[in-house]
Amino acid sequence: MAQSPVFIRDCRGHEAQVAEMIRAAFKARFGRGDEEVAIVQELRRAGCVVAELTALEDGEPVAHAMFSRVAAEPSSLRAAALGPVCVRVDRQRRGIGDSLIRAGLADCRKAGIEAVIVLGDAYYRRFGFRAELLCGIACAFAGEHLQGLELLPGAFAGVRSLAYAPAFQDAAG
Ligand SMILES: CC(C)(COP(=O)(O)OP(=O)(O)OC[C@H]1O[C@@H](n2cnc3c(N)ncnc32)[C@H](O)[C@@H]1OP(=O)(O)O)[C@@H](O)C(=O)NCCC(=O)NCCS
Repeated sequence: MAQSPVFIRDCRGHEAQVAEMIRAAFKARFGRGDEEVAIVQELRRAGCVVAELTALEDGEPVAHAMFSRVAAEPSSLRAAALGPVCVRVDRQRRGIGDSLIRAGLADCRKAGIEAVIVLGDAYYRRFGFRAELLCGIACAFAGEHLQGLELLPGAFAGVRSLAYAPAFQDAAG
């Protein structure tokens, strides 16, 4: 039986394998994964990373999660966006995504992040993400799939807008 993965925060030396895993995981689910790889690379290049975690099993990446800077109005809110996040196709549904995301949220909290957003489906409810929290807040990706989590209770109160890092807009074309 495989051991629990080890989570690392510095994935230098594993970038190529991480990129390949991201591409394959998104391709398996959505038919393509090049955009997600490009987003991760651009977030690193632009210095927009709040937290980046890679899960390794026997030295091989099996999961990856990115948390990036979000610009809010008012700018006093310290917010981050979760994503892209993925688990290697052959390691999915074993709780790895769950523990990696929880570890990333703990890193965000330690970094002083007060609120996190994610563009995703019902999977994220288990962490407390709720679309309702973002009602009335402007965002280029606003809609039922955009969900928020308050690490500091009430963090979204009075927030007018949230903007993902430019890497996401570039990828969306
Ligand atoms: C989504 C993903 C990160 C979840 O990681 P994981 O390690 O496979 O998931 P976990 O083991 O933590 O959790 C699995 C549970 O989540 C549930 N789950 C998985 N995807 C779900 C979804 N889209 N909606 C609701 N529940 C979901 C499963 O039913 C499972 O529940 P169970 O344990 O009761 O059977 C992973 O499956 C993945 O990489 N998918 C492809 C890429 C992707 O979709 N990334 C996210 C884009 S928003």
